[in-house]
Amino acid sequence: MKKKLLFMLALVVTLLVGWGATSTTTAQAATDNSLARVQKKGTLVMGTSPDYPPYEFQATVHGKSQVVGMDVAVGQKIAKGLGVKLVVKSMSFDSLLVALQTGKVDMVISGMNPTPARKKNVDFTHLYYQGGYSIVVNKSEKGLYKDKDSFKGKTIGAQTGSTMYNESKKQTTNTKVKGMTSVSDLILALQSHKLAGVAMEKPSAQAYVANNKQLAMIPSHFNLSASDTSAAVAFKKGSSSLVTAANKSVDQIRKQDLVNKDYLPAAGKYLKTNTVNTSMWHYWKAFLTGIKYTLIITVCSVFFGFILGVLLSLARMAQGGVFKTALRWLATAYVEFIRGTPMMVQVMFVYFGLGLIVNLPALTSGIIAISLNSGAYIAEYIRGGINSVDDGQTEAARSLGLTNTATLRYVVLPQALKNIWPSLGNEFITLIKDSSIVSIIGVSELIFQSNIVRSDTYRGVAPIAVIMVLYFIMTFTASRILNYFERRMQHD
Ligand code: ARG
Repeated sequence: MKKKLLFMLALVVTLLVGWGATSTTTAQAATDNSLARVQKKGTLVMGTSPDYPPYEFQATVHGKSQVVGMDVAVGQKIAKGLGVKLVVKSMSFDSLLVALQTGKVDMVISGMNPTPARKKNVDFTHLYYQGGYSIVVNKSEKGLYKDKDSFKGKTIGAQTGSTMYNESKKQTTNTKVKGMTSVSDLILALQSHKLAGVAMEKPSAQAYVANNKQLAMIPSHFNLSASDTSAAVAFKKGSSSLVTAANKSVDQIRKQDLVNKDYLPAAGKYLKTNTVNTSMWHYWKAFLTGIKYTLIITVCSVFFGFILGVLLSLARMAQGGVFKTALRWLATAYVEFIRGTPMMVQVMFVYFGLGLIVNLPALTSGIIAISLNSGAYIAEYIRGGINSVDDGQTEAARSLGLTNTATLRYVVLPQALKNIWPSLGNEFITLIKDSSIVSIIGVSELIFQSNIVRSDTYRGVAPIAVIMVLYFIMTFTASRILNYFERRMQHD
């Protein structure tokens, strides 16, 4: 029995891995119809990480929070050149290239340097802007640091997946380098003295310093080639027709110096309007949207998870013939596999992995992943609940002439449900909190919204405190309601 179980598990893992490997190769071998494809669908989807003013950042325009900045202007210019509409999709910097390779976005513009390592995996346009590196420090400590070599025995921070992160590791001695997903978090860590400095592109450093009186900047003196510190637009490997078309716009941008003359001044204006109203009340709509999506995801996932859980638990209890045995093994393997892998990985797998076959929106992917996850746990609660119903009940029902199914349906399940209810309630409350994981694929739930507010206002702690309270209100209310029903069930 154990051996067979192991075999089933091994089979599932091999299939998953094998499928992952083949699907990327087939995607790459496809002939280049990239330009035709984009023009046919009429939109050019740009992936970006809006924590990097003036390249890209969140700003409230006409009462609506949106992504602005010079990179968005570059994207617009390219889209216009192709005769299509630009769509901007935000995500963390370190998932941009994966999103590009798995077709979630058509191009990446995010102040990205075309390094040799990246060139192996994606194609870049010509350079559209040269930035250079700086280090942001606390103004009160500015006197202590001169450049990258002044941080001996200290910790500096850089965005994970960025060139600054790699270069800081390579080009400093005796200095700890800490990576974080978003630049706004790094700045927060700097201000709370968890970090002594944060490495980033010079224009971004200038923007952060201009918006925050407690910050200052120093030169980095990293040893770098010009192209290492310049930005280019990334496209999926092999999309030469698209790159050639985009290069026409990029060349114009360079020739007419559009970034300096037009895009940067425009971005600067947004930066100013941004810091006008940073009260948390001002952002109630963003938080409300967050609550809405958190609840949608939770309710849907518990619902689908429950259905899946019932099926799985029945399958796990199936006895008899070859078919039923196989079913039992499969269900067991599934439950073990899901419970043995992190939900975060499952969310990314559904979004990026399944995305290679069917292009699911982030919200749908999130609900699918969390339902699949929750189903495995709920299955175990149900199985436990059913097992806890006394065998005498089944025997009595059977001797009264009820069929197997009828016994399950009318005698066992109703009693089991009473036992399962508290665990189901707990699952619901857990999911209110854990659904926050889908923020990594860009679903606008509460964590995601708070990140927007944070980058919008340059305030680090206040939005976190607000969502903490909001999460508590949701879980507390939910647990009161569930308790009420639980008590009612105990009565009858
Ligand atoms: N230029 C650096 C890189 O290519 C960092 C870019 C960070 N961009 C951002 N939008 N956060 O790795």
